[in-house]
Amino acid sequence: MVEVSQEVPESIGDTMSNRKNIVVLGPPGAGKGTQCEKISETYDIPHISTGKMLREHKDLETEHGTARDYMEKGDLVPDRVVYRILDHRLEKNDTKQGFVLDGFPRDMEQAKHLEERRELDLVISLEVDQEEIMVRLTGRRVCEDCGESFHIKFRPPEEEKVCDECGGDLIHRDDDKREVIEERLEEYRNKTLPLKEFYNDKDLLEEVDGNGSIEEVWKKTRQTLEETL
Ligand code: AP5
Repeated sequence: MVEVSQEVPESIGDTMSNRKNIVVLGPPGAGKGTQCEKISETYDIPHISTGKMLREHKDLETEHGTARDYMEKGDLVPDRVVYRILDHRLEKNDTKQGFVLDGFPRDMEQAKHLEERRELDLVISLEVDQEEIMVRLTGRRVCEDCGESFHIKFRPPEEEKVCDECGGDLIHRDDDKREVIEERLEEYRNKTLPLKEFYNDKDLLEEVDGNGSIEEVWKKTRQTLEETL
């Protein structure tokens, strides 16, 4: 579990030639977490997921209730809480050679917050059809203990409802109910989608077709990484 603080990390210089500061954008269920894990393993950079960190700190108080209250409705958690968690994570030494950010930024305010702290090298946008998103999210199961993600059809665990990694129980996330998924998609369309134009204008954006199997998408993602970094 990560600790939280209110300190703001110092900006890291741009002198490292092999630095990989990567953001992965995409609607809920696009496969951001799945592809970010692969990027993290391949390039030996940390996978930083604000969703995962918030799930570990669901009881953090905001001005109007806990983080959990927002997440269960599919709404964005207030920035103040998200920044505390993210900034603390970015302070760690393992981010100096790069990181792959999953679920941040979610809107223009957050993009500006990040811009003040880190210079980005690449923003990948995973593009997936809406029907496919529903299939992926309604079939997703996550480990209660370690957060590892499975899918009843596309990435089934060896033993039903048991995590292959740590033996923990696999559960259906509270926000993977159909009506909450609709709300999360709405938030994505209204707030996150405009970031594509923002990053495209900065020449950082690469779209990757996120339809197809996990390995097929990884092949396309990896090719994009190799061509651009
Ligand atoms: P978060 O956890 O970030 O959720 P999300 O963005 O909605 O994304 P998901 O985790 O649902 O999907 P994913 O794209 O990672 O897909 P995955 O790889 O798991 O955020 C949750 C909540 O936290 C938010 O709603 C908000 O309340 C809050 N929050 C988070 N960040 C915030 C921020 N910055 N500011 C404010 N609030 C914030 O794949 C999905 C499933 O499909 C899995 O079962 C997987 O095995 C399967 N799968 C993946 N790829 C494929 C494939 N190619 N083919 C078949 N199956 C696949």
